[in-house]
Amino acid sequence: MPKEKIITGIDIGSTKISTTVASVSESKISVIGVSGNVPSKGISRGNVVDIDSAVEAISQSIEKAERMAGVSISNAFVTINGSHMETLNSHGVVAVSPNETSEITRSDVARVIEAAQAISLPSTREIIHVIPRDFVVDSQEGIKDPVGMSGVRLEVETNVIHGSATAMRSITKCVNQVGVDVNELVYSALASSEAVLNDTEKELGVLLVDIGGGTTSVIAFLDGSPIHSVVLPIGGRLVTQDLTIGLRSRFEDAEKIKIRLSNEAMLSKSGVGDVAEEDFDVSEFNLDIERIPRSMLYKIMNARLEEIFRLVALEVTKAGLSGKLPAGIVITGGAALTAGVERSAKVNLKMPVRIGTPKGVTGLIDEIKGPDASAGVGSILYGVKLYRGSNLLSLDDKNGTIKKSMSKIFEKFKSFLP
Ligand SMILES: Nc1ncnc2c1ncn2[C@@H]1O[C@H](COP(=O)(O)OP(=O)(O)OP(=O)(O)O)[C@@H](O)[C@H]1O
Ligand SMILES: [Mg+2]
Repeated sequence: MPKEKIITGIDIGSTKISTTVASVSESKISVIGVSGNVPSKGISRGNVVDIDSAVEAISQSIEKAERMAGVSISNAFVTINGSHMETLNSHGVVAVSPNETSEITRSDVARVIEAAQAISLPSTREIIHVIPRDFVVDSQEGIKDPVGMSGVRLEVETNVIHGSATAMRSITKCVNQVGVDVNELVYSALASSEAVLNDTEKELGVLLVDIGGGTTSVIAFLDGSPIHSVVLPIGGRLVTQDLTIGLRSRFEDAEKIKIRLSNEAMLSKSGVGDVAEEDFDVSEFNLDIERIPRSMLYKIMNARLEEIFRLVALEVTKAGLSGKLPAGIVITGGAALTAGVERSAKVNLKMPVRIGTPKGVTGLIDEIKGPDASAGVGSILYGVKLYRGSNLLSLDDKNGTIKKSMSKIFEKFKSFLP
C-alpha cells in the first residue's frame, strides 16, 4: 500500500474559515475532509481584530474537518491576508565557495538567497516569502537552477513578500490556541495561485485577483514567478453593503438578493442576465417596494466592481506591468461569482479575463469546486510542493512536521523555482 501523509490547509478569510485536509501520496492529493464555510468571526479585512472570537471560529472549522476526515489535526499551512502585505524585488550576490570542480553547490544557492533577504525592513515587518526568480552565474542571466554549473560569482533576483509582524503573530496565536502548529503562513493570493493558475499563464505573465468578502488580494506572475503583490481592503461585502443602502434592506437580505441575481446571471448567456430589463421580485424581503428593475440592481453592483478593478488597474500601472501580462487576469475568491464581474474586469483592465476555480486535487471535489475554495486548496498545494520539492515528504512521519535538515533553506526555495 502506498504510504500517505496528511496535509492540512486553513484559509482564514473575512467571510469564512475553511479547513481542508488532504491525504497526500507520491502520485495523488486526495481531499478527505473539509469544514465547509464556517462563518468567520473576529476577522476584518483579513486581519484578526478579536482573538477570542477568531479562535472560536477557527476551532469550529478545524473540528468539522477533523470529523469528516477522521484524523486529528496537529499542524497546518495557514493563509495570511490584509492590506499590510507588501512586496519588493531584491537582489543577492555571493562569491561561489572554492572547491575542486568550482561547481556551484546547494549551499552556495542557500547563501545567495540568504543574501537577498538582507533588506532593511522596520522591526514591525516580517518576511513571509522569499521566492527566487532568476539566477545569474558570472554574467549569464536567466538561469533557473544553478547547482552544478561552474562559476565564481552567483547572483539571484528574488521576490520578497512581507507583512506586519503583529498581524502574523495574531494569526499564529489564534491557530496555536486551538492546539494546532502553523507549518507556515502562506500569503492568501500566492496560495490561490497554486490552485488556479497554470504554468503557461505564469510564464507568459498573468494577474491573479482573489476577491473575497473583505479584501481583494492580487499577485502578478512574470517569467514563471511572482513579481508583485498587493492587497486592497475592499471586496464582495461592500457590494452587498451598497445594495443594503440602495434597497434600504437588512444586510442578510441584500446578500440573498446579490447571490440570487449572480446565480441567475451565471445561467444566462449574456453574463448579466437575459432578463436585465425585467423587474426583480423582492416581495419576500419586506422592503418598501415589491419589485425593482434588475438593471438598477446591476448598476449598483457594477459601480463597486468598477472601483475594485480600477484600483487593480492602478496597481498594475504603478508596478510597471502594463502591457506585460498577456495571459490576462484570472479572477477567483467568492466574489468572482458576482454578476457582471468578467465584463467589469475586461472593461477596466483591458485584458483577457477568466474565472479561476481550484484544480489539482481529487477526493471530495464537490465541496471545493467554487472559487471561494481557491486559497484553502492552494494552501495544501503549497504545502505539498514544499514537501515534495524538498524531499521533506518523509512518508513515515505521519504527523507531518517539517524535518529540520541542513539543506532545508535550499530545498525550500528550490521547490518554488519555475
Ligand atoms: N454566488 C455568489 N454570487 C456573488 N457573490 C458571492 C457568491 N458566493 C459568495 N459571494 C461573495 O463572496 C464573498 C466571500 O468570498 P470568500 O469566501 O472568498 O471570502 P473570504 O476568503 O472569507 O474573505 P477575504 O479573502 O476577503 O478575507 C462574499 O462577499 C460573498 O457575498
Ligand atoms: Mg479569501
